[in-house]
Amino acid sequence: MKMLITGGAGFIGSNFARYMVKKYPEHEFTVFDKLTYAGNLENILEIRDKQNYKFVRGDVCDLNFLTYILKDTDVVFHLAAESHVDNSIGNSLEFTKTNAYGTHVLMEAAHLNKAAHLNKIKRFIHVSTDEVYGDITEGSFKEDAKLVPNNPYSASKAAAEMIVRGYYTTYKLPIIITRGNNVYGPHQYPEKIISRFICNLILDRKVPLHGEGKNIRTYIYVDDVSTALDAVFNKGEIGEIYNIGTHDEISNLELTKMLINKLGKTEDYILHVPDRPFNDRRYSLDLSKINSLGWKQETGFEQGIDKAIEWYKRNVTWWLKLLNHNGL
Ligand SMILES: NC(=O)c1ccc[n+]([C@@H]2O[C@H](COP(=O)([O-])OP(=O)(O)OC[C@H]3O[C@@H](n4cnc5c(N)ncnc54)[C@H](O)[C@@H]3O)[C@@H](O)[C@H]2O)c1
Repeated sequence: MKMLITGGAGFIGSNFARYMVKKYPEHEFTVFDKLTYAGNLENILEIRDKQNYKFVRGDVCDLNFLTYILKDTDVVFHLAAESHVDNSIGNSLEFTKTNAYGTHVLMEAAHLNKAAHLNKIKRFIHVSTDEVYGDITEGSFKEDAKLVPNNPYSASKAAAEMIVRGYYTTYKLPIIITRGNNVYGPHQYPEKIISRFICNLILDRKVPLHGEGKNIRTYIYVDDVSTALDAVFNKGEIGEIYNIGTHDEISNLELTKMLINKLGKTEDYILHVPDRPFNDRRYSLDLSKINSLGWKQETGFEQGIDKAIEWYKRNVTWWLKLLNHNGL
């Protein structure tokens, strides 16, 4: 089969591409990516010489090009997005364009090919986020919970889901949606809390913590996201939604203290910065549906954090130029 991975030069997409290209030599993979500031060909260097892999630079907002690409595609994994909440507070139009309109373009390209009997996509896996549910003080969200996005990023991801649902219902496109909690691990652009703080601490710099750091997040190691997407590809049911995550909950302050401790620093390295205008208090996902597909978490939080720290220590050249280039 011919598989397309949009956003495959980014953090999660590249991990997934490396995993799938090696696991399925019988399938052909195309990584499709615009290479924004967050896309990096170094993330997919490891598979560059594989016979079943190719890279195409392109924009998910380009309908003509995508209609052409999807003519020769069986399965789509759609990960391309603007993904950093802080950037969406200030530059949100770009988020709506890539996340909502870009997803719409992919849907329309798949629909046009189907309507013209040029090609029928067999499976379209749309990668969304737990942030579409909004926050929850106690308990966990099941997949049928109401969507209450609270920031421009999550609003654009929720908008994308609505468009996807429209094409599933009206045009019977074979869509599955995943909603994941916060992901961390090697190759994450040094802008999100774990990657950024590890890099700062390695450089002996302070770490900018939003407000008092009371907000709670749940984390999943990036390798576990790839195995979950693979489980959804193999066993997920068309038209269904699957939460992907763990129960590794930690407040931003506790996480910061953990990283500081592991990197041999003191709490003097915490720099309290103003909080976001609105910051979801807690996210939590019910995982029974993804577990029923036989998927389970392999990497515990402590182990994953150690692996991530080790990777950032060994790959300073990968992230230092990104920090310098973007004045982080
Ligand atoms: N990182 C997380 O914690 C997390 C959690 C849940 C869901 N997600 C979702 O997973 C997906 C991947 O997230 P990530 O953390 O790897 O993001 P990322 O920012 O690291 O990568 C995004 C990739 O998309 C590409 N891209 C951006 N705009 C594009 C466009 N117009 N056309 C083609 N490519 C474009 C970028 O070049 C980059 O390679 C996103 O859809 C995100 O919403 C992420």
